[in-house]
Formats: sequence, C-alpha cells, structure tokens
Amino acid sequence: MSRPATTAWRPRAPRTVSWLLVPLLLLGSACGGPMSSPEAAPEEAGAWSLYGAAQTARGEDGMVVSGHGLASDVGAAILARGGNAVDAAVAVGFALAVVLPAAGNIGGGGFLVYRPSEGEVRALDFREKAPAAATRDMFLDGEGKVTEAVVIGHLAAGVPGSVAGLWAMHGEYGTLPWADLVAPAIELAHGHEVDEVRSRSLAGAAPRLSRFPASAAQFLVDGEAPAPGSLLAQPDLAVTLTAISEQGPDGFYGGAVADLIVAEMERGGGLITHQDLESYAPVWRGPVEVEYRGHRIYSMPPVSSGGLTLGLILNVLEGWDPLPPFGSADLVHLEAETMRLAFRDRNTLVGDPDFVDVPREQFESQDYADGLRARIDQERATPLPPVEVAPPAESTETTHYSVVDRWGNAASVTTTINSGYGNAVTVTGAGFLLNNEMDDFAASPGRPNQFGLVEGENNAIAPGKRMLSSMTPSIVLDPEGRLMMVVGTPGGPTIITSVYHAISNVIDHGMTLDRAVESPRVHHQAWPDQIFYEEAGLAGDVVEELERRGHRMVGRGLSGDVAAILVEESGLLGVADPRRGGGASAPDSPGDAH
Ligand code: GLY
Repeated sequence: MSRPATTAWRPRAPRTVSWLLVPLLLLGSACGGPMSSPEAAPEEAGAWSLYGAAQTARGEDGMVVSGHGLASDVGAAILARGGNAVDAAVAVGFALAVVLPAAGNIGGGGFLVYRPSEGEVRALDFREKAPAAATRDMFLDGEGKVTEAVVIGHLAAGVPGSVAGLWAMHGEYGTLPWADLVAPAIELAHGHEVDEVRSRSLAGAAPRLSRFPASAAQFLVDGEAPAPGSLLAQPDLAVTLTAISEQGPDGFYGGAVADLIVAEMERGGGLITHQDLESYAPVWRGPVEVEYRGHRIYSMPPVSSGGLTLGLILNVLEGWDPLPPFGSADLVHLEAETMRLAFRDRNTLVGDPDFVDVPREQFESQDYADGLRARIDQERATPLPPVEVAPPAESTETTHYSVVDRWGNAASVTTTINSGYGNAVTVTGAGFLLNNEMDDFAASPGRPNQFGLVEGENNAIAPGKRMLSSMTPSIVLDPEGRLMMVVGTPGGPTIITSVYHAISNVIDHGMTLDRAVESPRVHHQAWPDQIFYEEAGLAGDVVEELERRGHRMVGRGLSGDVAAILVEESGLLGVADPRRGGGASAPDSPGDAH
C-alpha cells in the first residue's frame, strides 16, 4: 500500500482544550492496581475524570491485560510457569467465562490475531454461526417488524465457537497441557469473590436474568445480585469445564454438555441441534494489514468489519499530517467525517466472506481512501441520506484481552456473547450463558439492530453463516517492524473507533499508553448520523463549534474498555481501561526457559 499524498490541514484559531470535571462513574475497587498511571502529567491529572485512573502493570517477562483482574492473574501465572502467549490466552479465555459472565464465555465466539515472535501473523475466526434451521426472516413479525426474540431468549443464540477456537489456537501454538489451562477456571467456578463492578453489573441485568430460572439460580440470590465480597459458586459450570478439560471440544460439542444445550433449545424454542454443534469449526484467516505513518497494524479480517474499517479510517486520516490537536473541534470534525464514510461502507459491504463477496480491496486501497478524503469538507459536516433508526443501546458488552510473553509472541483476543449476559439464557445443568449473536445479522436489512447499526443484504441471515462483527483485536508494529502494541476493546460498533483512538493517541498525539486509553473518545457510525461523545469528554465550546459545522452532537456514557500492552525500552507496560474495572497483570516469577 503506497503512502498517500499529504493533505494540508488548515489550522483554525488556536483553542484551549478545557476538559471538564465529571464524577468517576464506573470505577470500583477493582481499579486499584500495582502501579497507578505513573506518567500522567500532574498538571492535567484530574481535568478529565479518568486521567490517572487506569490500572497499569509493568513487566519484563510478559504481560496480560483483560476485562477482569482475576483472569489477568490466571494468565500471568501461566506465563510465570513457562507458558507462552497462546497458553495464557487460552487460560484467560476460560477464566473470563467464569468471572466475567457479562461477556466472558464458552457460549459465544470471538477472534484471535496472533503474531509469533517468528513466523507469519494469523487470525483465527471462531465467530458463532447461524443454526442450519435459521431463516432470513426468522425475527420478523406479521408486520415485518423485528421481534424481541432477536436479543433475548433461545432463538437469539448462534452456534457457539469459543471452545473450538481456544482448542484450535492451543493445538496450533500452545505448549502447556490443555487441562492445565482449564484448571484455573474450574477452581474459580467452585467459588470466587464477586467484586463491586460485577455486583453492580449483575444488579443491572437481574430483570433479564430473572426471566430464565437457570440464570436466576446461577447468578442471583433471591432475585438480587450477589453483594460485593460474597462468594459466587457455579458448580454446573465447574462440571462443564471439567468435561472440556478432559475431552477438549468433544466435551462441549458432544456428550452430556451437547445434550444439555439441545435440551435447552427444545425447552425454549431455540434452533441449535446436535448436528449444528458437531459441525462447528473455526477458520484460520489472513489478517488485515494496514500501514499507518510508518507503522504496520494487523487486525481482524471479515467476518469482522473491524480490521477493514479501522484500516479505512486510518488510510483517510493519514492524509492529514499532522492531525489537528487532540480535543479540538478540527480533529473531531475530521474524525467524524472519516468515520461516517468508513462506517457507511462497512455497514453495506461487509458480511461473511464464505457467503458473500466482500470488496476487501476497496477498503485497503489507498486510491479509494484518497477519494473519500477529497470529499471531506473541512468546515462543514456532509450528512448522509436520513434513515429511520432507533437510538442505539449504550451498554455494549464483549471483552478483550491482550497477551505478550517473554519471547515476544503476542495474542490479541476479543470474545463476546454480544449483549451483556448474552441472550440471558443459562443452559440448564451446564451453567453457562448463551449468546444473542443473531442480532449481529441484519435481521431486517436496512433497519437498525440493538446498536443502531443499519446494515445491508450482505449481512442477512442464512443457515451456517457467520454474523458481521465489529470486534477489532489488533497488533501494531513500530517503523522498524518490532512489536509495539497489542490492543482491543468491547463496545459494539464503538470497538472500531475506540481501537482507532488508542492507536492514534499513541502514534499521532504522542500520548503515553495509559493516557491514550484513559482519554475521552468520540464515535460516528454513519447511521444515526450523529457524533457520540463521552459526556463531558468534549469542552462546551468544542461541542458548540461542531454543532455550528452541522454535526448532531450526542453526549452519552463511557465507551469501551480497552486492554492494551505497549512494548517500551524498559519492558512491557500493560494498561487496563478504568471504564469497566479490568486488570493488568505481569508474571512475578521468571519460570523456566522455554
Ligand atoms: N457482538 C459485537 C460484535 O461482534 O461486534
């Protein structure tokens, strides 16, 4: 991919970036950590409520950052025992299925981008699939409206891919015995302490979980969330994990666990059959590669839209060198105009590459990006034709973990059951939640899903098809081709823009990684045609200036939960976003040479 011609960004009158004070909204006790943001500039600390709040760790022998400190500790312990990045990733994946039931899972799916210290970068697609009995209009009522069944209950579940995915990555790259990697999760399932963040999360989900007896029994105490500090034991999940530990994927896609999944489907009117489970297989794919200001970024290819959309955004923005200052209306304007165009293409063109032709070359073409950039008016918003859209949900789950081992192998994994607590259905007797990933299809092409995304025919439902995703597990190399950064986040469509922000904040704005993760984010997804910004994350005069340029500005809650690792001269810096209480953990014992 050739470098673009630089487009002059015309600086406007200088303006002061005046972040406003807001209360800390989502910080729980889990946010404290071994090192607290040592590089936050003291004169600015406190200006935006999240500055200085990231949980960070430093290490020389590896690093794990995930959505839950307990899971990161599990991964760090595997690294300390001499496991590599994939061993740790597998152990973290299973641990998250226990301690982060909102998003960690064995009943969902996900993506891995893996860069071994030597050898080619590869991507593993273990996304869920539509059951064989799925039909294009299965979620439409008699009037053609999308029903609630797309997000809650049995019909919303795609065929899970996580166990097969973790098995495939271990089979290809793992070095420690499989059972050793599942063992920490089994122990956690026998009982772990619920922290404040997770207690609050369960309280929010209690009304949904209460609709399904097995979910209420597993996660609630007399219909209420377990109190912070109380022990959550998940005995059925421990049994399921033991079957997986002993039999690998056969312990999930066959045998007693498969029988329980199919029985649950029959009880609740779901579609997944034994045949669906037995035939599920993950797929190794070539990653998306993007050049950005001398750096190389590897990210997830379709069926994720993440890598292609991130790449298109970066290819367009690379033409302004340098970008306007962080926090300025000029920057947010260029970002929003670029995101709008990139998401328009994402929404209409991307789908499962095994079913539809995805014009990857268009997203990856510098000429195409140059053409989009030429259409951007630096003074005025360029609206899209209006489409009727419902307001998207603010809470967008999924979870990401980043791992680097002492040999420099890097694993970037994003996994999901879609909504928080998926479709809210726990498989009775098996102790795990199912996904509601069917809502990531365009249940009614041209009409919005729960994230307000309006997508096209390429993402219509079909039997055996994978649903479009925004998950963007990514790995960044520095201009010398050395590992520089591992990054990803949850957040529905904001995943793509949050990963963009983390990368651009480091490369374009020279931020330290903790500051890059903490800093306020903006998001545009084409439809609804508006800029979402984190409430109080933009100064009032900046919001006014953007409105003057024709943007519809919508302030809302915090966005994303980035888990990132930066390779520094002195070692590895792990940063867990303060937005949802994740954790960074480094192995504290060197382990055996491996
Ligand atoms: N379920 C969120 C995503 O895959 O983008």
